[in-house]
Amino acid sequence: MKIFLDTAEIEEIRTAARWGVLDGVTTNPTLYAKVGGSYDALLAEICKITSGPVSAEVIAEDVEGMLTEGRHFAKLAPNIVVKVPMSETGLEAISRFADEGIKTNCTLVFSTNQGLLAAKAGASLISPFVGRLDDINQDGMTVIRELVEIFALYDIKAEVLAASIRHPLHVTQAALAGANIATLPFKVLQQMVHHPLTDKGIVQFRKDWDEARKAAAGKPA
Ligand code: G3P
Repeated sequence: MKIFLDTAEIEEIRTAARWGVLDGVTTNPTLYAKVGGSYDALLAEICKITSGPVSAEVIAEDVEGMLTEGRHFAKLAPNIVVKVPMSETGLEAISRFADEGIKTNCTLVFSTNQGLLAAKAGASLISPFVGRLDDINQDGMTVIRELVEIFALYDIKAEVLAASIRHPLHVTQAALAGANIATLPFKVLQQMVHHPLTDKGIVQFRKDWDEARKAAAGKPA
């Protein structure tokens, strides 16, 4: 399963890239609002850090507006993927982008049928929001599992991207469900790295090593 970061924070993206675990980045208007500045400049900077897909979200609600914004984003870097919300106009825009060879990520997907339609319209990435479904007492991971199964049954090429990931268990569950990608807040990525026994073990090994070296230094050669 590929791992994307769901963030607009450049330093978080740089860090994950240095760790060798970064396959791409997703942004959205809320994540962008946390850092501000020029969205274009931010996207261009992210695309310099990773050659993986970088999602840039359109704001327009009409097809022509979405197309104008998406074509603009697509010119910023070859790895830009235009993020389009699931809606009637969104589907039309996704279909037009597909005709133009511009890759899209259909966002705000909350049901299997929405995901199926987005794939049929031509989206490359389908983003069910797992955490937001869990928040309203619906099993978000079911949408991931069903889309993975349907895409395999019908040999549909779109990739299932588990979004709105809230904790490390979601990542494991998405991987087991066959998601192609999970996009994570940086905090969840950090939580995946750590385990209390690992951290405790590192401290103990250092302590034992230092004591052994001290004892060795006090002994005659
Ligand atoms: O980028 C879309 C999605 O991952 C947002 O997550 O935590 O705002 O539900 P969240």
